[in-house]
Amino acid sequence: MAEKILLRLTVNGEPRAVEVFPMARLVDVLREDLKLTGTKEGCGEGECGACTIRMDGRIVNSCLIPAIQAQGSVLLTVEGLATGEEPHALQSAFHHHNGAQCGFCTPGMLIAAEDLLRRCPNPDEAQIREGLSGNLCRCTGYVKIVDAVKAVAEGRPA
Ligand code: FES
Ligand code: FES
Repeated sequence: MAEKILLRLTVNGEPRAVEVFPMARLVDVLREDLKLTGTKEGCGEGECGACTIRMDGRIVNSCLIPAIQAQGSVLLTVEGLATGEEPHALQSAFHHHNGAQCGFCTPGMLIAAEDLLRRCPNPDEAQIREGLSGNLCRCTGYVKIVDAVKAVAEGRPA
């Protein structure tokens, strides 16, 4: 059996170190070892986007990343979006537009939307849908999610 490694990460701006097996999945390291349970696991196969996080500047499905591949990386999870008690504009917009129903897809959606707006600050509807195409939602029909992202892109409070 493989020996554990000391995995060093920067998570939401904080240096973290944790002993894990090299092939442990990053989603499990986040949820079980680091207790950051905002990131969800849906399919476990890279299809649903529930486990989306940002890793070294690009979004990834954390269910597909072995711990060893994340050694030294800089991660953003949904817990890192708010500033203190102040929610991120996307979190407020999802709330105002009812973009979250059961909420299971929401952490991954928020990270994907944040990444989209970082790359493309004024997306049209097609670009929003394309930017979120790796994230599945079973509840909303996507319209309210798209509305929320559009509101933030247009600088509307809601
Ligand atoms: S749980 Fe990772 S993509 Fe579905
Ligand atoms: S809000 Fe339920 S899966 Fe998206």
